[in-house]
Amino acid sequence: MKASQDMKADVAEVLLTEEQIAARVAELGRQISADYAGHEVTLVSVLKGSLPFMADLMRRIDLPLRIDLMEVSSYGGTATESSGLVRILKDLSAPIDGRDVLLVEDIIDTGLTLNYLLRYLKGKNPRSIKVCALLDKPARRLVEIPLGYVGFEIPDAFVVGYGLDFGEVYRNLRFVGVLRPAAYES
Ligand code: PRP
Repeated sequence: MKASQDMKADVAEVLLTEEQIAARVAELGRQISADYAGHEVTLVSVLKGSLPFMADLMRRIDLPLRIDLMEVSSYGGTATESSGLVRILKDLSAPIDGRDVLLVEDIIDTGLTLNYLLRYLKGKNPRSIKVCALLDKPARRLVEIPLGYVGFEIPDAFVVGYGLDFGEVYRNLRFVGVLRPAAYES
């Protein structure tokens, strides 16, 4: 698959504008700042999709915080489906025992990746662990996951942009859009 030179031409519809995302991220930051007041939070970003969300969210949280980065990939999945078998490509750089951890994700789809990650991170004895997801696609959920913070609930559409890719492309779009079927069926 090769994206068009004009990435926006591959987008059928803008689901969330840059302004809508920025406003919601600011709200989430305010809510997290209030909820964790008096505590130091550790944000754990799950690469690569959560990169823009993490970068924007952390600057909207008015608390001392640390960040860490993980990267995972699912075994045996396809470009559009995760398998639930997760391989850790990059683990945490520092211990999280006794820390208040907020796992930052771009999208929760089947929930399989997060289900694995939550179990894995709970094994490292954090004081607390919650999830902050920009996008929630509940129609696709296979396992129930407690989501502490959600930016937007979205329909079951193939979305790209603001970190989300198809074939590693489109992550740098500043909005979240629905990909034209022609862009992934070819
Ligand atoms: C996406 C997303 C989650 C996962 C969600 O990552 O960042 O980690 O899929 O899907 P699930 O709920 O069905 O498990 P992806 O594997 O696309 O990697 P990326 O972040 O590097 O794009």
